[in-house]
Amino acid sequence: MKIRAAITATGGYVPDFVLTNKMLTGMVETSEEWIETRTGIKERRILKGEGLGTSDMCVKAIEQILKKKNLSPLDIDMVIVGTITGDHIFPSTSNIICDKMGLKNAWGYDLAAACSGFVYALATGAQFIETGKYKKVIVAGSDKMSSIIDYQDRATCIIFGDGAGAVLLEPDTEGFGIRDSILRADGAGRQYLHQKAGGSVKPPSHASIDAREHYVYQEGQAVFKYAVKGMADVSEEIMKRNNLTGNDVAWLVPHQANKRIIDACADRMGLSADKVMLNIERYGNTTAGTIPLCLWDYEKKLKKGDNIIIATFGAGFTWGAIYLKWAYDTNNE
Ligand SMILES: CC(C)(COP(=O)(O)OP(=O)(O)OC[C@H]1O[C@@H](n2cnc3c(N)ncnc32)[C@H](O)[C@@H]1OP(=O)(O)O)[C@@H](O)C(=O)NCCC(=O)NCCS
Repeated sequence: MKIRAAITATGGYVPDFVLTNKMLTGMVETSEEWIETRTGIKERRILKGEGLGTSDMCVKAIEQILKKKNLSPLDIDMVIVGTITGDHIFPSTSNIICDKMGLKNAWGYDLAAACSGFVYALATGAQFIETGKYKKVIVAGSDKMSSIIDYQDRATCIIFGDGAGAVLLEPDTEGFGIRDSILRADGAGRQYLHQKAGGSVKPPSHASIDAREHYVYQEGQAVFKYAVKGMADVSEEIMKRNNLTGNDVAWLVPHQANKRIIDACADRMGLSADKVMLNIERYGNTTAGTIPLCLWDYEKKLKKGDNIIIATFGAGFTWGAIYLKWAYDTNNE
């Protein structure tokens, strides 16, 4: 039988520091009510502490997976990290995680697809399992967005937060695991959401720092429009080509960028609100972290055989959907 890549454990980590909407009203011209009604976000977590970065959050999430599955660090074959806020431009955050955790038999890489980083990484990691080459692949999604957010820009600072989530992929031959994926990209969308300086086109300089060009630049309304359409389109398409109706789908795991985008996507899929994973009110948009953090938060509610649709949209533009059959009951283990 065909080898599929099944998620067999989840891990997650959010930093302790809570940045509330009320706190933001003291930093930029906004109101608690505006943020909550326009985005669905009440608070987000911020990683504080000298020398701490994305790898540190990933390590905490992956440690949980090793503990849950009683694995040795030497059992892991690969670590793929979806992130746009890696510890350094190089080496990769994956490389640093392997060192920090003693994953001596593993290799890996970072995958930059912004909010779609985890979904791209999950689809990619699955290939290494499906070919039979590897048995234990960790896929993480994590961003320390506070490192690239301008806390003087009310259009972006209200949305983003820090966090990490991770899953373990293992081979399955009983029909569980990842069954289909649709991945899309359109680089023309980069004009609406990007970081102007810090890369090879515009290396860091005093002038770029003074112009605050190392922070996220976003034209929110344009991104919103593309996100609603992109996420709903791929979700509908993946359901159709797998003969799934809203009744067949147990859970939608949407990227958590704006509650209104999520609601529009669920509507198009014919899903009631109780089938939609949500944690945006507590964590905001953690970019590549949102989807694995949802899986981690909701793990206990998931049942073996549940049909799950993961849907994402992010800078690039990048977007996509994954259909998988959940492979385990947490409570029965
Ligand atoms: C950013 C976002 C929340 C803004 O919400 P919006 O409803 O589109 O708001 P707009 O930008 O149209 O602004 C509406 C009004 O609110 C104001 N406003 C913008 N940010 C505000 C804030 N934080 N507090 C109060 N008012 C604000 C605007 O100035 C504008 O005022 P005006 O009508 O007087 O000009 C929304 O566009 C969004 O979520 N976009 C997608 C973001 C996203 O998904 N990004 C991650 C990548 S997937």
